[in-house]
Amino acid sequence: MSDHLTVVDHPLVQHKLTLMRERETSTAVFRQLLREISQLLAYEVTRGLPMTSKVIETPMEEMDAPVLAGKKLALISILRAGNGLLDGVLELIPSARVGFVGLYRDEKTLQPVQYYFKVPEALEDRLVIAVDPMLATGNSSVAAIDLLKRAGANNIRFLCLLAAPEGVARMKEAHPDVPIVTAAVDKCLNDDGYIVPGLGDAGDRMFGTK
Ligand code: URA
Repeated sequence: MSDHLTVVDHPLVQHKLTLMRERETSTAVFRQLLREISQLLAYEVTRGLPMTSKVIETPMEEMDAPVLAGKKLALISILRAGNGLLDGVLELIPSARVGFVGLYRDEKTLQPVQYYFKVPEALEDRLVIAVDPMLATGNSSVAAIDLLKRAGANNIRFLCLLAAPEGVARMKEAHPDVPIVTAAVDKCLNDDGYIVPGLGDAGDRMFGTK
């Protein structure tokens, strides 16, 4: 994957995203939609994975058949909202290794503060997919990718549901080697660092908190 930004404009993704944006969508429906949409996005973010082949027997004859090459990929959830994307992606890639980066956003400075970091071994030999539904200011995403690189990751992709142009620009400046896959790039950020029109606070909407 070489383009820095891929917007997945598939009709199913766009339809589900619209339902998620709506204020009246319940927590249960929001969660279900996130699970469905994350599988569709996972399909896109894993495009072009290296392949090898193995000889198998079909009921008809022997064939040299394609299979994924290399070490199991690593999915890294940027807590807490990343877990909502993680579940759906894991359904599609059940053998993936999983890690967590705990960052919260200081509401005043909007800067990320780290409180947890646990990732699979041998990150340097894996494709690493970092997941966080909202790429807003880009501060937490940039900080999370910094930590992953420090832990050895050198082949990273970033998967989100919604992005703000400011966040995309910040990621491109800090990590031009990390391609971003998203369902949409919205208009802008508001003064509180929320994506507009966006869908509100993704963590609150998926966990039913306020
Ligand atoms: N985080 C969210 O959950 N929503 C936004 O709009 C921005 C950051």
